[in-house]
Amino acid sequence: MAKSLTISVLAPTCLSVLVLILGSERSSPASAADAQDFARIERGRYLATTADCAACHTLPDQKQPFAGGRSIETPFGMIVAPNITPDFETGIGAWTDDEFDTALREGRRPDGAYLYPAMPYPFFTKMSREDVLAIRAYLNTITSVRHEVEPNQLPLPFNIRTAMSVWNVLYFKKGQFQPDAAKSAEWNRGAYLVEGPGHCGACHTPKTFLGGDKGSLSFDGAVIQGWFAPNITGDNAQGIGRWSSEDLIAYLKTGHNRMTGATGPMAEVITLSTSRMTDPDLRAIATYLKDLPGRASVASASPAPDPIMKAGSAIYLDRCSACHALDGSGVPNLFPSLAASSSLRSFDPTTLIRVVLRGARSVATDAEPTAPAMPAFGWQLDDEQVAAVLTYVRNSWGGAPSGVVSAADVQRTRMELAKRRD
Ligand code: HEC
Ligand code: HEC
Ligand code: HEC
Repeated sequence: MAKSLTISVLAPTCLSVLVLILGSERSSPASAADAQDFARIERGRYLATTADCAACHTLPDQKQPFAGGRSIETPFGMIVAPNITPDFETGIGAWTDDEFDTALREGRRPDGAYLYPAMPYPFFTKMSREDVLAIRAYLNTITSVRHEVEPNQLPLPFNIRTAMSVWNVLYFKKGQFQPDAAKSAEWNRGAYLVEGPGHCGACHTPKTFLGGDKGSLSFDGAVIQGWFAPNITGDNAQGIGRWSSEDLIAYLKTGHNRMTGATGPMAEVITLSTSRMTDPDLRAIATYLKDLPGRASVASASPAPDPIMKAGSAIYLDRCSACHALDGSGVPNLFPSLAASSSLRSFDPTTLIRVVLRGARSVATDAEPTAPAMPAFGWQLDDEQVAAVLTYVRNSWGGAPSGVVSAADVQRTRMELAKRRD
């Protein structure tokens, strides 16, 4: 007891001395190797953060990171993420480096079975073998947890893993990221992070009915898990063209900026991944996204009818203006500016309807620990009223007309939400 106490008290101050003594006792090649190992593990830890491995492989309320068990929603049904701690029986402790590399970059398990693309191997294939083995080196250092993850229960025909060989032929492009020599080093770093470990397209790129990326529409925006992940190309109307690099960096670092706050799945991406990236990496991501060409935006919507705008304006004044301000400008970093928010004008209003019906809590990060919240109005406003107020905010304050939200849209989202747990 006394001994362990002494050690724990003295440990911090003695550690460096101890390291020096141990270091001097070893031959110098070994300590050089140790330093190399340490650098590799640290690189692997950072890559695992940029790839957000913990988000899917950890149950939200679980203390044990990477022990698996979380259900991931896919067009085929729920797929459960396995245990990837170094446990020999229920985790991946017994896997060789080659087997780990094949799983991450080719989507195959040691027994040859195909992984479902709910595991983002179509993006991770952009990493190098050294990157992947650095992640492995890091995963080898985490606490191993015995946790048997129950098998997937997909309906026929999707429960047949070999069907994924066809999927791979259709949608999987194997191959490491190739830098574009005509672009800056910063642009290339951003491209690597976004297209590779960051797997941003997994949510932001529209999907075919089989869940493959519609490559020609990269980052054009898509509905995911009952949210709309908006267009993040440099497009001025639908995308983030009007955001400065500083706006983007603030959003990815803290979860909000002068125009908007992140909710839902993006709040989780920010909390676990982008808020922990270095500033130069966030700047690289901003440089790359801002350079993505927007495709010709959807034709401008026709103006909303007057009676709906009037009804919407009255509800806005009464229920919304206290926080979002009469002119929609909000309060910077606290209440989003509805006038400047680009997601507010997205052609798909799923997220907006959801936020007004259910309310939303934004992100708390180390940089800004209190998360402001938007109250739920689903129990106070009926479908017509929600439709009217959203039509009003989407077509006011000088932006391009963004179309009418109909009561039927609201009813559909309300029913969809009633079926969801999250
Ligand atoms: C978007 C969610 C998601 C992310 C992010 C993710 N995974 Fe996975 N992973 C899954 C799912 C789901 C499966 C199971 C797929 C299946 O059963 O076909 C899986 C399977 C695996 C497997 C195969 C394990 C086995 O026993 O079959 C390994 C290894 C793995 N992931 C490692 C990682 C690593 C390392 C990272 C980060 C670099 C990562 N995953 C990021 C969802 C994810
Ligand atoms: C798990 C799905 C998912 C992943 C992965 C993801 N996003 Fe998002 N993202 C969303 C959703 C959903 C929203 C909308 C959030 C909202 O409206 O509050 C969003 C919003 C955004 C926005 C704000 C756009 C706007 O106009 O308001 C930016 C910028 C963004 N994401 C960038 C990224 C980048 C960069 C990555 C990769 C590092 C990424 N996202 C990965 C789901 C995701
Ligand atoms: C108590 C203050 C408050 C009131 C009242 C309020 N909001 Fe909000 N609203 C917020 C906060 C805070 C957020 C940011 C939440 C987040 O980022 O998760 C938000 C977010 C939003 C968003 C998403 C904006 C974006 O850029 O993604 C919309 C749309 C919205 N509110 C509309 C409304 C409407 C319509 C009303 C009235 C019916 C209303 N709000 C009333 C505080 C409020």
